[in-house]
Amino acid sequence: MPTATTSLADDLLRWYDRHARALPWRVSPKDRARGVTPDPYRVWLSEIMLQQTTVQAVGPYFAGFLARWPSVEDLAAADEAEVMKAWAGLGYYSRARNLKACAEAIANEHAGRFPRTEEGLRALPGIGPYTAAAIAAIAFDRPAAVVDGNVERVISRLRLIETPLPAAKPEIRAATADLVPEARPGDFAQAMMDLGATLCSPRKPACALCPWTDPCAARLAGIAETLPRKAPKAAKPTRRGMAFVAVRADGAVLMRRRPPKGLLGGMSEPPVSAWGETAAMDDLAGMPEDLARLSLDWRRRTGDVRHTFTHFHLELAIWRADAPMTAPAPDGWWWSEPGEIDGEALPTVMRKAVDAGRAGQAA
Ligand code: ADE
Repeated sequence: MPTATTSLADDLLRWYDRHARALPWRVSPKDRARGVTPDPYRVWLSEIMLQQTTVQAVGPYFAGFLARWPSVEDLAAADEAEVMKAWAGLGYYSRARNLKACAEAIANEHAGRFPRTEEGLRALPGIGPYTAAAIAAIAFDRPAAVVDGNVERVISRLRLIETPLPAAKPEIRAATADLVPEARPGDFAQAMMDLGATLCSPRKPACALCPWTDPCAARLAGIAETLPRKAPKAAKPTRRGMAFVAVRADGAVLMRRRPPKGLLGGMSEPPVSAWGETAAMDDLAGMPEDLARLSLDWRRRTGDVRHTFTHFHLELAIWRADAPMTAPAPDGWWWSEPGEIDGEALPTVMRKAVDAGRAGQAA
């Protein structure tokens, strides 16, 4: 006799067999049934990239990384600066540093093989509880409860969990763990992600098409689209600062590297002032000393660059100066020539700043 929960899992897996998204890192349920097993390197790489990042944004980066570093040993042997360049634009740059450290640990301490358990995976750089569960389930078919934001939505609706997030997390996790089947736990995890990403959408869930429409307690109560509830978020402060784009006659732009730890750690940037909630955007006294020593003629550009980070909004005033070919790069800084700028490890906000400085109008 199937129990109520095995039939829930079966219903979802049947839906997944017909509707699984074709994703570049995924082994389709059909191939899986034929005995194809996923490459743990691809599963790991995709899960790190997919943290806080959409499937659509990840696609080209995943393809680029695999083409360049086809195995974990290749990535372990890569130059870290090259990895940061290839990651530029994906955001949350500590992921790229940990990616390289994790590849080295796998290659050097684990004979090139990923641990198969959640516990073993969690001991590696950049792999937290969610990612360990996802890799254990998807790569090794372990019965792990994989709970991302999509799954939180699906489960809080299925089980009518009205406690607001994040307080509801333990309850949602336990409810998910209860549903994980013995057979095909990896496909089950991916099926829940797909259900959350397609039918069980935040605002207009397509309940009529859902394999769990009958058992869904929130649908029965008529409140599916109001779940999960979320505790109000603290308002983000706005910090301000200045970015200085020095452009040589040959089009080269002056760059430096950010400190290895912290926000945008290890990435490249044009020189910037300190950022703060009360910082001036029009006072050149805030310029880095090394840059002031070049005595360039700075003009402010119209149009500030805006960017939102996890904990604050940033507004950067863009200042531009034309520099002579003889202007030296301060210690550790460099002139990035036009053919090199696109390949620099520039985070999105810094790329916007460089573009605005190169192209913008004088204010
Ligand atoms: N989000 C996080 N992991 C994912 C995966 N493996 N497939 C689709 N979306 C995801």
